[in-house]
Amino acid sequence: MTSNAEAFDRARAVIPGGVSSPVRAYGSVGGTPVFVARAEGALVWDVAGREYVDLVGSWGPAILGHAHPEVVGAVQAAAARGLSFGAPTVAEAELAELVRARVPLAVKVRFVSTGTEACMTAVRLARGATGRDLVVKFAGCYHGHSDALLAAAGSGVLTAGLPGSAGVPSAATAQTLVVPYNDPDAIREVFAARGDQIAAVITEPAAANMGVIPPEPGFNALLRELTTAHGALLIYDEVLTGFRVSDAGWWGLEGRTITPDLFTFGKVVGGGMPLAALGGRPELLDLLAPLGPVYQAGTLSGNPLATAAGIATLQLADADVYARVDAASHALATAVTAALDAAGVPHRLQRAGSLFSVFWGVTGPVSDYASAQGQNAGAYRAFFHAMLDAGIALPPSAYEAWFLSATHDDAAIERIAAALPGAARAAAASL
Ligand SMILES: Cc1ncc(COP(=O)(O)O)c(C=O)c1O
Repeated sequence: MTSNAEAFDRARAVIPGGVSSPVRAYGSVGGTPVFVARAEGALVWDVAGREYVDLVGSWGPAILGHAHPEVVGAVQAAAARGLSFGAPTVAEAELAELVRARVPLAVKVRFVSTGTEACMTAVRLARGATGRDLVVKFAGCYHGHSDALLAAAGSGVLTAGLPGSAGVPSAATAQTLVVPYNDPDAIREVFAARGDQIAAVITEPAAANMGVIPPEPGFNALLRELTTAHGALLIYDEVLTGFRVSDAGWWGLEGRTITPDLFTFGKVVGGGMPLAALGGRPELLDLLAPLGPVYQAGTLSGNPLATAAGIATLQLADADVYARVDAASHALATAVTAALDAAGVPHRLQRAGSLFSVFWGVTGPVSDYASAQGQNAGAYRAFFHAMLDAGIALPPSAYEAWFLSATHDDAAIERIAAALPGAARAAAASL
């Protein structure tokens, strides 16, 4: 048995920051990350054997709870048949059919390994289809770490996006226009000025990577209207929301009224394994190699273990699962609000379906990246650590949604609720 601190030291000696993805390092909350040894249902255990109720949920995939026996069984059975073939399998068509059954606009589906790849490929496809170079993204939306989409969040309207990372050439983001989320005038202005050069608008149809910020009524419809009018494509990035906030993701929850040209999916569609997808109209998807001129490929794309996990997860994620996640989300959000109110912590809890997050020290609506950044992240730091000390593992950043699963039953919610008053007092003391 080792401790988290020992595990962190060991990892830091050989892995930059000790982690394989930055937010896991607890940079914004401080302290030593929980090194997970195993997980089951709503619970995780660290390397020292300590148990936590988990609200990270692998950052979205674990909608059925961790290590669902049928998903694990499907992966084990697939593993016994071979880990990777580099050849097509029937299971890939089966998973594509399951995706299409839920989101019929995804008539054809291409599988990749990460959400980053799905969004990168969707942008390339949009550029290939339209023969145009410009891509519009919204400040604070995250579409993975490909160069073109790492444009500085917060850049002004009509300014070329600046790289959001060292190592991204300015040429790679010069073709990315960054616009404030939920700002109809700004997006209208962009299209009025450069509409004939825009290949696509990529959006999180409900934003959840700058805290949870649902679209204002009519905003997504406006994106469809403007893109259609100017011959640009609309990409719904549902890597996070897809098959999580409803059986058909945000697109389903908002009423199936908007018709994006392309969707990207990740997280739930891979059931906790490295699998993501893009889907859309057949004439667009058929522009991908081998049928068309837009190149995309992957040694491990459509991997049989990942595909098996995705199939089992989508088959199991029925109406009852979504109802349970919704109920858990509602109960927890109510308890959080009550605890923060009782401790006198000014806050704003925002929801997008079953996703929610808390903005600390603000009370007015948070509608875009600029208003999200007005929060007091220090209050979250105190709250986070008090919860962790009480055995509740929250996402280690104030800008992330809290992820629930169908296994967050009354007992799990009660355990979280019991920890809330003390953590709320810790947050209040830090303000
Ligand atoms: C909306 C959205 N798009 C894309 C990505 C990138 O996915 P991945 O981390 O699998 O590359 C994420 C990851 O959090 C996401 O939330």
